[in-house]
Formats: sequence, C-alpha cells, structure tokens
Amino acid sequence: MTAQKPMNIAHRGAKGLAPENTLAAFRLGMEHGCEGIELDIHLSADGEIIVCHDESLDRTTNGTGAIRGLTLSEIKSYDAGEWFGEQYRGETVPTLGEVFDLVPASIMINVEVKDHVDEQIERKLVDFLRERGRLDNVVVSSFDHQCVRRIKQLEPNVKIGLLYALNLVEPAAYAHAFDVDVYSLHPHFTLVDSELMQKAAEYGLVVFPWTVNDEKDLLHVTELGVSGIITDFPGRYRDLLAGK
Ligand code: G3P
Ligand code: MG
Repeated sequence: MTAQKPMNIAHRGAKGLAPENTLAAFRLGMEHGCEGIELDIHLSADGEIIVCHDESLDRTTNGTGAIRGLTLSEIKSYDAGEWFGEQYRGETVPTLGEVFDLVPASIMINVEVKDHVDEQIERKLVDFLRERGRLDNVVVSSFDHQCVRRIKQLEPNVKIGLLYALNLVEPAAYAHAFDVDVYSLHPHFTLVDSELMQKAAEYGLVVFPWTVNDEKDLLHVTELGVSGIITDFPGRYRDLLAGK
C-alpha cells in the first residue's frame, strides 16, 4: 500500500446509494467519509449553473426536456429523487450554488463541465468561483480539453483537469504540452498503470481515476499511488482503507 492515502471522492455524490447529483447524494458522501465530491454541470435557459449529468432531465427526474431549454424554476418543479427510491422524494436538481452552500471548503469539489453548447458556461463558472472565493479546493475537469484550457485562460488560479476514456499515447506529455498549466489527469481507471504514474510524477500532475467501485480495483489503483479515487461508494472505500 502506498504511503499517502488517496483522496476519497464521491462520484455525483454517493451515486451508488442515493440519487446522483442531488444534495442528498452529496450529504451521504460526506457522511461516508468522502474528502472530495465530483459533480457535472450544465447551463439553464436563464443562465443558472445546474448540477446534472445528462443534458436532459429525462433519466434522473420525473420531468423531461433539455436543461438548456428550461428555466431554473421549471427545472426546480421536478422531483429528482423519487426515481431512485421513495425515501428520496422531494429532492430537486440543485444549482452549483446550493452544492457549494452545503459542502464545506475542506471538501474538494471536482466540477465537470458537460455543457458544450457554447462558451457561456465557462465564463459563468469562472465568475461563480471568483464570487465564492473558493478556487483553492476546486478542480474543473472536462472531456473537452479546450473548454478547460479556456477556463484556465480566463482565471489562471483555477485548477484544471483533463478527463479521458481512450488510451492517449502519452497523456502526461500531452497535458504538459498545453500552453496553460494542467493540474490533473482524470483517466478511466483501467488506463492507470505504473508507467502513467511515473510520467505524471515527472510532469507534476496528479491522477484522479474514475469510476472505481470494486474492492480489487480500489486496492489496485490505491497501490499504484494515485492522488484521489472517484467512486460511487465512498463508504466502501473508507472501510477498505481502514482494513474493515
Ligand atoms: O469525472 C469523472 C466521471 O464523472 C466522468 O464520467 O460520465 O460519470 O461524468 P461521467
Ligand atoms: Mg462526471
């Protein structure tokens, strides 16, 4: 086991046990000992930063429609918990502001930008982070690497991470070649090996694999020395590290 314990990051909250990307899921993640949370964002029709994985409300609420086509009050009129379990009835789709109000500054927040409609969300997010004065313990990631690059250009103090699911030839060198500083690599966990870890260390990059749920996979990436693990089951990972 590596000397440094990786950060336990709750994926969309404790997604395995609560309705993803709701305040209930983030609360449960913290109850289960997470040290970071991961969430996904889109922009509503009236310019609010909305926390939701999909571009539409169809899968995770009792409503329908694209987030970009709906106002905050329309989005708020739908239930985002009942689909997961009766006890979660009454949960709504949160704004990023509501999540920041709930989660203390000691918990790292990994904001994944999903909305690729235009660059409006990038400016909105930077304004939001500046207003909140919470650039330290936030990492902004995206599969759209130009999106996070532009965000870094807008606000040099924001930490940015590159998400990827395909085997990039040299991920660490690729990140290092950016004309802005990249903080972290976020590979699918099957892409993490000792060579990646060595190269990442060489270039001063931290590694946050996703989404690691099985015990053997959690142990494997922990032993490889990653900086944080994004998991649907933060309680399982906490207990595993504690040897329970
Ligand atoms: O940020 C890690 C992970 O959330 C990326 O995939 O589809 O769960 O947002 P997805
Ligand atoms: Mg995500």
